Amino acid sequence: MNDVVELVRPAERKVTRLSDLTASQQAAIRQIPAEKDAVTVPLSATRPNAIFTGADRYEAEQARIFQRFPVPIAPTALLAEPGSVVAIEAYGKPLLVSRTRNDEYRVFINACQHKGAKLVEDCAVHRQGRIVCPYHAWTYGIDGKLIGVARPDMFEAVDKAARGLKELPSRVWGGILYAQLNGGEADWSNLSPQVADDFGALGIPDAHVYGRRSFELKANWKVVLEPFLEGYHVQRLHAASIGTLFQDAPTIVDLFGVNIRQVSGRIGYVPAMLDEQPDGNIHKLVTHAYTAFPNVVLVTSQYYTSLMILMPRAVDRTTVHYYMLTPGPATTPKAAEVFERSFEMIIGVFGGEDFRAAEITQAGLSCGVPETTLYCGLESNIIRYYEALESLL
Ligand code: FES
Ligand SMILES: [Fe+2]
Repeated sequence: MNDVVELVRPAERKVTRLSDLTASQQAAIRQIPAEKDAVTVPLSATRPNAIFTGADRYEAEQARIFQRFPVPIAPTALLAEPGSVVAIEAYGKPLLVSRTRNDEYRVFINACQHKGAKLVEDCAVHRQGRIVCPYHAWTYGIDGKLIGVARPDMFEAVDKAARGLKELPSRVWGGILYAQLNGGEADWSNLSPQVADDFGALGIPDAHVYGRRSFELKANWKVVLEPFLEGYHVQRLHAASIGTLFQDAPTIVDLFGVNIRQVSGRIGYVPAMLDEQPDGNIHKLVTHAYTAFPNVVLVTSQYYTSLMILMPRAVDRTTVHYYMLTPGPATTPKAAEVFERSFEMIIGVFGGEDFRAAEITQAGLSCGVPETTLYCGLESNIIRYYEALESLL
């Protein structure tokens, strides 16, 4: 999934101003102190090594979270037009996601109902109303209906109505498509209405997928997640890249069930800047970082938003689907250059720094060291999120 997607989108959205955000987001931002006034409360919390390395814990997470509740599959922005379809490998399952001509998002198992062949083999977004199986050319609508069988005279009977694509229950939430992986009845109660409203205010449902990339990481999904829940590493791991842009201060944090929102001021932030920002772009002053149930990471930047879905594959393996979202496609050469540089930069920071940190961490954890991980006051949001997650286990 290394291709940069450029689909036609409506006119470019204006910058996001403070007043475009939800009342809840605005209230959180108003609480961010000036850098010099920030107070960090020391902490020494721990977690056992086994939460990152133990087969029991991994199986419990699978049974009680990833298979039990709906999980995120992709941002709806990936399918920018009705009448399009894309194959996504999600949590070890081949899925087919479509946006029908009636503008409904549907999630299917990417497998033919004749003998099981994968219907769409690549990972590009296809603008088409039909899917033809490469094996014996059975044809499906992107609404999942079986509409054509080759040489039907050679079958005594084919019940077409019974051989539509296997569909999973799904729902769009804040611009992210969720599906129930085991095909059973879905319990949507972990998805936060506040997070959906916040994502709406951040323009996620109407965003443009500028670029995307998948990473196969040798690390537990929580080890991959941790750096997005703490500011302790930023000035250190990212010293040569983005570390200089961020202060070493705690974030303003709000929990909505098993969803966490963090807002923080960029370097040199003082609250008076909120009313003085010349072009009104709130993303130049404040960074939003969300972990939406259970494994969506969303981080805002000045001109784009990073959306990641961290899909567990084994206790020490995670697939990350990264999407760079922009308000629209680049409409000027300058914007094209900014987006291109931003994409390279963020892939370098997340891929080369955060994901590298996850892999070198897993290497130590997998040989039992340390016996317990230790979290300081700048990492307290990890503990808050783990407590919420653990309440489901
Ligand atoms: S497996 Fe698809 S048509 Fe035969
Ligand atoms: Fe980081």
